[in-house]
Amino acid sequence: MAALVKQLLKANRTSHAFYSTNVALTTSRYPGLKRKEFGVVVDKDVKFFENIVGAPNVIRSDLDGYNTDWLRTVRGESETVLRPGCVEEVSALVKYCYERNLAICPQGGNTGLVGGSVPVFDEVILSTERLNKIKSIDPTAGILQCEAGCVLETLDEELSKHDLMMPLDLGAKGSCHIGGNLSTNAGGIRLLRYGSLHGNTLGLEVVLANGEILDNMNPLIKDNTGYDLKHLFIGAEGTLGLITAATIKCPTRPSSINAAMIGVEKFETCLKVLSLTKKYVGEILSGFEFMDLATRQVVCDNLGLSYPLAEFPYYLLIETSGSDEEHDKAKLDTLLEHLMGNELIADGTVARDVTQRKHMWTLRETAAEALLHDGYCYKYDISLPQPVWYDLVREMRTRIEGSAALRCIGYGHLGDGNLHLNITSAEYDQHVMDLIEPFLYDWTSAHNGSISAEHGLGFKKKQYIYHSKSKEMVNLMKVLKQTLDPKGILNPYKYLPEG
Ligand code: FAD
Ligand code: MLT
Ligand code: ZN
Repeated sequence: MAALVKQLLKANRTSHAFYSTNVALTTSRYPGLKRKEFGVVVDKDVKFFENIVGAPNVIRSDLDGYNTDWLRTVRGESETVLRPGCVEEVSALVKYCYERNLAICPQGGNTGLVGGSVPVFDEVILSTERLNKIKSIDPTAGILQCEAGCVLETLDEELSKHDLMMPLDLGAKGSCHIGGNLSTNAGGIRLLRYGSLHGNTLGLEVVLANGEILDNMNPLIKDNTGYDLKHLFIGAEGTLGLITAATIKCPTRPSSINAAMIGVEKFETCLKVLSLTKKYVGEILSGFEFMDLATRQVVCDNLGLSYPLAEFPYYLLIETSGSDEEHDKAKLDTLLEHLMGNELIADGTVARDVTQRKHMWTLRETAAEALLHDGYCYKYDISLPQPVWYDLVREMRTRIEGSAALRCIGYGHLGDGNLHLNITSAEYDQHVMDLIEPFLYDWTSAHNGSISAEHGLGFKKKQYIYHSKSKEMVNLMKVLKQTLDPKGILNPYKYLPEG
C-alpha cells in the first residue's frame, strides 16, 4: 500500500491518466479573474532560456502535470517550464523575466493544497526539479545544507546514514521538495516535537525578483546581526523570492520509535487523553494525530485499508521517539494502562513491529489521497482552540445535509490544534461550495482560529486573509511585497488580496 501511495504522489509528473485534462481551467471555474499586464513568452525568450539552461530544460509541450495541482482542483495554461540546474541559472532566468515583465510561478514537488504551485494564467513555471544536490551534512553539529529541489524523503534517507533526521515529516514526503516545504512553512506530523521550519532553518539562499542572489546560508545556530531576513521567505509561498538552497538544523535520529492506536467514544475524552499523554510520555512524544470514524471509512472504502481496531467515533495515533526501547515501551504501556484503568479509552493496540507502526501511519497519512477517489475534495486546514475543534465538523455536517456532498470528515494534528476538515462530492458543486464558504471561515474567525494552520493561502484562500490578519498587518505585507517585487512578477494572483 505504501508503494501505491508513493506512486500516486509521484504521479503529478508523468501519469497523464491521473492528470487528465478534465480538470476545469482556473479561469473558467473562477470567472471574473483578469490577467495582469505581463509579457507573453515569444520565440526570442525561448532562445534566451535555452541558452541559459539548455534546450531539454525548457519544456514547451505536454505540461498538464505542471499546470494541474495535486488535488486536481485548479489548472493553469502555462506554455513554458524552466528547469535551472544551479543558482546562477535561476538568477539569470529571473533577471531576464523581470526585465521582460514575464510572470513566474515557482514550483517544487507540486503537492501544495491551496492552488499556489500552479499558474493561474500563462505564468512561466520555474521548477526546482534539477536543484537537487546535497551540499553538505555536518554530523556533529547536525546541520544539513542542500538545494531547494531535494525531495524531503531523500534528505531524510541521506541523513539517516549519519544518525540524523529531517525535523519535519508529512504524507507528501516522497514528492515534496524542501524549497516547497520552506515556502509553505509546512507543518506535518512532527511539529509538536521539533517545532516549525522557522525554528529549524538556520539560513537560506534566495533569488530576488530582480535576479539578485541573497546568500544567507549561515550555518550558525546563534546570530543576532540585523533583521532575520530568512523568515520573510519562509511561508511566503514564492511571492517574495525564489528559495534556491537552505541550511537546516537536524535532530538526532531516535533509536526507539513506538506507536499506539486507540479508540475513543467522546471527543472531550480525546482532549483528556492529550493532556495525560503529555504528562506520561511528554519528553518522548513525537506524534499525536486524530481521525474520526468518517476518516476510517474513507481510507477503507476507497483504498481498501483495514483498521486494527473495531469501529469507534474517534481514533488517536500516539507516537513516541526516544533512545531506550525498554524505557520508552514501558512508559507508553503505563500511559495506556492508566487510560484503560480510568475508562478513558474504549480499546487500544500497540504496534508490535515496524510493519504495524507503518500501517498505523498509512491509515492516517493516506486520508488526503483517499478523499480524491470520491471525485472533488473541498479541503480545509484550520487552527482552532482544541475545546471547540470538533464542533465545526458537526456543524458542517448539519449544514451540508441534503446537498450533493458525499462526506464530511475530520482528521489532523490534534496535538497542534490543527484540524483538517474535508468535504467531498462526485464533482465540483457550486451549491456545496456556497454552503461551506464563507461560513467555515467566519466560524473559524469567530472562535479565534486561523483559516490556514499549515497549507497556506495560495490562490484559493488569499481573499480570506482578513479573517486571520488585521488590515494593518496585511497593509505591511503589501509594502514588503511592493519593495521586494515591485513589478509583481513572482507568483501573481496568490497570497495577498487585490486592492
Ligand atoms: P509546491 O506544491 O510545488 O509549492 C508550494 C508553494 O511554494 C507554491 O506557492 C510555490 O509557488 C511555492 N514554492 C515552491 N518551491 C519554491 C521555492 N523553491 N521558492 C519559492 N517558492 C516556492 N502540508 C503541511 O504543512 N503538513 C502536512 O502534513 C501536509 N501533508 C500533505 C500530505 C499530502 C498527501 C499532500 C499532497 C500535501 C501535504 N501538505 C502538507 C501540503 C504541503 O504544502 C506540501 O506537501 C509541501 O510543503 C509543498 O512542497 P512542494 O515541493 O510540493 O511545493
Ligand atoms: C495531512 O495532515 O494529512 C495533510 O496536511 C494533508 C491534508 O490535510 O489532507
Ligand atoms: Zn496536515
